[in-house]
Amino acid sequence: MSWTPDSWRLRPIAQQPAWRDEDALERALKQLAALPPLVFAGEARSLTAALGDVARGRAFLLQAGDCAESFAEFSADAIRDKLKIILQMAVLLTYGAGVPVVKVGRMAGQFAKPRTSATELVGGVELESFRGHMVNDDAPLAEARVPDPSRLIDAYHQSASTLNLLRAFTKGGFADLSQVHIWNQQFLASSEEGRRYEQIATEIDRALRFMEACGIELSTEQSLHQVDFYTSHDALILGYEEALTRRDSLTGDFYDCSAHMLWVGERTRQLDGAHIEFLSGVHNPLGCKVGPSATADEVVAICDSLDPDHVPGRLTLISRMGADRISDSLPPLLAAVRDCGHEVAWACDPMHGNTFVSDTGHKTRRFDDIVRELKGFFEAHRQVGTWPGGVHLELTGDDVTECLGGFDDIAEDQLHERYTTACDPRLNGRQSIDLAFRIAELLRS
Ligand code: PEP
Ligand code: CO
Repeated sequence: MSWTPDSWRLRPIAQQPAWRDEDALERALKQLAALPPLVFAGEARSLTAALGDVARGRAFLLQAGDCAESFAEFSADAIRDKLKIILQMAVLLTYGAGVPVVKVGRMAGQFAKPRTSATELVGGVELESFRGHMVNDDAPLAEARVPDPSRLIDAYHQSASTLNLLRAFTKGGFADLSQVHIWNQQFLASSEEGRRYEQIATEIDRALRFMEACGIELSTEQSLHQVDFYTSHDALILGYEEALTRRDSLTGDFYDCSAHMLWVGERTRQLDGAHIEFLSGVHNPLGCKVGPSATADEVVAICDSLDPDHVPGRLTLISRMGADRISDSLPPLLAAVRDCGHEVAWACDPMHGNTFVSDTGHKTRRFDDIVRELKGFFEAHRQVGTWPGGVHLELTGDDVTECLGGFDDIAEDQLHERYTTACDPRLNGRQSIDLAFRIAELLRS
């Protein structure tokens, strides 16, 4: 059977909403199909090339953003603050890795969530699970949880405005290297703890002065003033993805123009399933989450399905093993993929294998477990002789209290103070910069 944008419809499909009104769904998808693409094929190809450098050990990937973007918390300030944190982290990682950092947001389209079960208990009442604002509302009411196809259109428009702002910020001076470095210095100055990282910051400072002394005008040199920033999300709701899939006029190839990069989640990566079928035919760079149950044969088969033409950077495998399991689970997969002839990038998602419910009833993660999984990731690559290509993180620029520990040492009894995530617990801005310093140290060693 040959691939078409709708050939996934013949495959078994996991994690789809129980839409009630098929006509309303049809109308929404038709409307989406007539709307302009959000990204262009040429941009997706540039990202594949950049990820090809990651696959070959010549660049490092920073993919980060919300677990689930929210219709309710949508503002220019929130987008700016998230981007600011990602840019600050990227400078630290660039210095630590000594190679370019490819910046990809879980932003401008990350609106759909896979769920462990179709219903959830909220305050003793069984409700249809919240599946992300592209599908239903998170309010604890039966009516709010009914999947509403008009949300697909709203998600498109929010993605368009988010992307517009990201493009303006990253090309309009906000990403200026000297400015980003000043933000990092302010972060260090804000706490005694920051002294721990003074050395890296001082070294970056010297590097900037050195460039200036060599006659490089830091404020006008375009490469120090603008950055390429890409978007990505979990390609979960396939009707939405199909409607935004367009044929590129230059190459004749299909691209899913809802984001530059799409990934398939741990719960939807079945080899014979609809998600793998859909993604196998679009030419965007792809990600695939790989959890502790994945076997070497399975991962090699995923490489064959998603990277049939052996294009470096086409596929990023995102391991999410959990801090306790990574040193056993990851090395055999790294070795099998190394030997199978696909040049894939490997990234570490140290979030999704380390989630638990605190005594206070909050879904949370420990900063120390996140660091421990990252250490395990670097160590596994060192053992097998492969390149630890990047990280995949859930974070926000806001001052939330959702993950434990880190820079301000957030404790369990503080979780309730500013717990605002629409889904999984995110690192706050200060925890994120703290983590970037840790990763920079790991990269340097
Ligand atoms: C996610 O990235 O938010 C997610 C649900 O991850 P996974 O598919 O790895 O569980
Ligand atoms: Co998540």
